[in-house]
Amino acid sequence: KTVANKVIVNTDLKEGTVNRNLYGHFSEHLGRCIYEGIWVGEDSPIPNTNGIRNDVVASLKKLNIPVLRWPGGCFADEYHWKDGIGPRESRKRMINTHWGGVIENNHFGTHEFLMLCEMLECEPYISGNVGSGTVQEMSEWVEYMTSGGVSPMADLRKQNGREKPWHIKYFGVGNENWGCGGNMRPEYYADLYRQYQTYVRNYEDNRIYKIACGPNGADYRWMETLMKEAHTKMDAISLHYYTVPGSFWDGKGAATGFPENEWHLTMKKALYMEELITKHSAIMDQYDPDKRVGLIVDEWGTWFDVEPGTNPGFLYQQNTIRDALVAGITLHIFQEHCDRVQMANLAQIVNVLQSVILTEGEKMLLTPTYHLFDLFKVHQDAARLHTHSISQDYEGESGSIPQISASATEDGQGRIHVSLCNVSHQDGAEVEIELRGLENKTLSITGTGLSADVIDAHNTFEQPDNVKPAPFQSFTREGSAIKAKLAPMSVVLLEIAAE
Ligand code: AHR
Repeated sequence: KTVANKVIVNTDLKEGTVNRNLYGHFSEHLGRCIYEGIWVGEDSPIPNTNGIRNDVVASLKKLNIPVLRWPGGCFADEYHWKDGIGPRESRKRMINTHWGGVIENNHFGTHEFLMLCEMLECEPYISGNVGSGTVQEMSEWVEYMTSGGVSPMADLRKQNGREKPWHIKYFGVGNENWGCGGNMRPEYYADLYRQYQTYVRNYEDNRIYKIACGPNGADYRWMETLMKEAHTKMDAISLHYYTVPGSFWDGKGAATGFPENEWHLTMKKALYMEELITKHSAIMDQYDPDKRVGLIVDEWGTWFDVEPGTNPGFLYQQNTIRDALVAGITLHIFQEHCDRVQMANLAQIVNVLQSVILTEGEKMLLTPTYHLFDLFKVHQDAARLHTHSISQDYEGESGSIPQISASATEDGQGRIHVSLCNVSHQDGAEVEIELRGLENKTLSITGTGLSADVIDAHNTFEQPDNVKPAPFQSFTREGSAIKAKLAPMSVVLLEIAAE
């Protein structure tokens, strides 16, 4: 069945810029994200550059990753950065107590992470340790990375082979300090935040953008307290929200082979991000009406049960067309709130949760979520165009949600990109896209789509191209309107050049 929908794009109404950092990623010392997924070591038979996998870096580079968060997550508040510098063979070996109880040999530390960022040409975003670290430790880490002058930490860095300081912009003062980062009350963390951030110094021309630990989902009291007590001392505050069709305690739901009703539920739960951002922004507006403080969703994505037979502490899950749709509608929400949301980091980049890449030994595959990020990268740093969507309802056991989600931007060359998601798992959608303001123009339009025939279509190491983008031609043009026919559970990106 095919039903009607309309998207109006006011091409002359630019409403802010889509910060490229909305397309950010997150890498934690968790499972096979860092070790195996990124770092294999210089002696590995897997082709690498200074220990970092070539295949993974080459694929990630194509995504134009703007920013990468590290070393956690929960790991960050147990991480002592001095364990991860100096000759690798003499670095401390320890148990990664939070994630799977495996050995952490500290071979991937500050130098290795910043080398990865240089390879990816992305900004590093470092998460500091508040939960189990000291003010001095955090302060010295910043000094080690960014001080070029006379200083003990700069000397130590030089001894370890790096003469010039790095430029570090994004620095998080703790992670989930309401939970794994110390189980703190917001009042207590707000005071600690004020204290710790004091010693996160700007050396020479380096300017740190300080990010406070924000709420877990709908914890509005946390946001209220942090904004009240500390908004003048932060550049941004984080928000964490994961899409879990079931529950964290009684089974989250399977990544593949899930029942049909879980498709709708997953979309509904992903769309909850809209309410979270709206309500948190309203609180922020009271203290910061000029929107100086950014909201940074530095952990988001799907969280399913781990793949059967894998270490439960490794959070390894497959990735299907459902994940791609979740990414599409979530990125649309971020784009529509680009006045307040300044960064977002999908959890996590390789082999953990909603990854863009999965690896197994020397094999590697690109997930449907990778392809979604590849399609949407044209929105990075583009001007958001005012868009109004009129959508049919998509009914499910848990109620009704809009079937269509859309967002439009104009890039630096004047090209317009309209991305559309049809979240229905069974109905196609006719969408009329009215490009107001382009009535008398000659338009050249190209389309790319991502779709699948089954609700859990995914890529495997044996069949890595099951789900991949293809040219999209199911559209006609009538004046300045485009009529597109979207397949069930599909994403379409239209590029429109007007003369
Ligand atoms: O991304 C996995 C974990 O989820 C992170 O370590 C933590 O911050 C969050 O609870």
